[in-house]
Amino acid sequence: MIVSNRLPVDRAVSDDGEASWRPSPGGLVAALEPVMRTQDGVWVGWAGVADEHLEPFEIDGIDLIPVPLSEQEVENYYEGFSNDTLWPLYHDVIAPPKFRREWWDAYVAVNQRFADEAARASAHGAAVWVHDYQLQLVPKMLREARPDLVIGFFNHIPFPPYGIYSQLPWRRQIIEGLLGADVIGFQRLADAGNFARAVRRLKGYDTRGPIIEVPIGVDDPTSGSHRHVTRSRQGGLVRTVLAMQFPISIDAHMYEEMASRPEIQERARQIRQDLGNPKTIMLGVDRLDYTKGIGHRLEAFGELLADGSISVDDVTLVQVASPSRERVETYRQLRDEIELTVGRINGDYSSISHTAISYLHHGYPREEMVALYLAADVMLVTALRDGMNLVAKEYVASRVDDDGVLILSEFAGASDELRQALLINPHDIEGLKDAMLRAISMPKRERSRRMRALRKRVLTNDVARWSAAFLDALTRSAHGDHPLQHPLGHESRER
Ligand code: G6P
Repeated sequence: MIVSNRLPVDRAVSDDGEASWRPSPGGLVAALEPVMRTQDGVWVGWAGVADEHLEPFEIDGIDLIPVPLSEQEVENYYEGFSNDTLWPLYHDVIAPPKFRREWWDAYVAVNQRFADEAARASAHGAAVWVHDYQLQLVPKMLREARPDLVIGFFNHIPFPPYGIYSQLPWRRQIIEGLLGADVIGFQRLADAGNFARAVRRLKGYDTRGPIIEVPIGVDDPTSGSHRHVTRSRQGGLVRTVLAMQFPISIDAHMYEEMASRPEIQERARQIRQDLGNPKTIMLGVDRLDYTKGIGHRLEAFGELLADGSISVDDVTLVQVASPSRERVETYRQLRDEIELTVGRINGDYSSISHTAISYLHHGYPREEMVALYLAADVMLVTALRDGMNLVAKEYVASRVDDDGVLILSEFAGASDELRQALLINPHDIEGLKDAMLRAISMPKRERSRRMRALRKRVLTNDVARWSAAFLDALTRSAHGDHPLQHPLGHESRER
């Protein structure tokens, strides 16, 4: 069973009351959907609209159990605590997090509803996999209700350093909530390290590498079960929790297959032609989010036009910015800033025949995205902080022609693996400009050499491998056996 804030589909209700389903935004759904298509499981989540009480239903062979949220809960739990408190806090406080007690109360109440739903719908001894920052209290709530379950949790976004995390007024409750899981997965080694440090500082529990020892109280519902209960070095009874990195990925072969289709390759040629056949197409694809560094990328691009290093006759930037969290004030402000900047750059540098920035505030079907990836000579991923960034992996998987240059922020989790990208610090605008120029003029041989290495990595470490590694750790934990070695074997377990 998967439990996540969002279901893989969003309910859209038009002005005339017509309801339809569309794919949900974001990396979480993009990664989990292919996993669920191959597993016979159930997905518990919210359908994306307020005040809708929907019966369980099936879509593309996946059984979905919708959890309702009221309008007030959407405001306080989703837009408030999840996306105006936790999201900015966990992303290096790029935007200031707001701490509101009524938002926290809603977060607790909604987490309890998700836990109740999962407890009600799961079979004895089932494995339940809870996802992301919106539901960090669910593991503990679920364990209290159903000590028979095996509980996994995966955090799709960064886990911040203690100096930042400790600002959260409810920092202890969140740690306790997460420690209800048997296995806690993070994107990067650094995230798992930050979490272990928070556990030591706030709870005083011992950690040994990725193993956390949680003392068992007399009232602990798991004390009756012998699953992963051992004696600590001090002699007390402890449960062990495994907390380590499991870097997420994509269904790379699906992207490869799509990019090989003649009609998608034709569409890529069409896109190039429609843009006026520039020598270089640069591409950015992001949810319109302040963590993505879209402004930094536009600043660098604008300066290259201003100083004459590039010209609109030769280089075009396509920026797809899909709408996101539009009722949260920080996101509204960001949209205004980005659109002002795009307007200025276009006003200053576009000509009748060539537009500097083709700005698209839409989401697109996957086929169109793959065509865009194929058309793009340079892919810009300039996140200021990002759990993984699956767009970087999608671009690589789509480049069946072994061509294209990926510029990748070292603050995105993907940079741990994608070392042959041009790695940049997006705050360093000069460095970013240099990387753009280097990408534009990179010889074909070097492009192919880098892309081949990147592709090998992404095609091997795909999403099936990720979920198998996590579920293997979870199954082993059900038998009281925590693996100490990282299942993907590509990072040390030192912190
Ligand atoms: C990120 C988060 C997901 C979230 C997605 C889209 O990928 O990790 O949990 O679902 O963004 O954001 P939204 O607020 O629209 O669900």
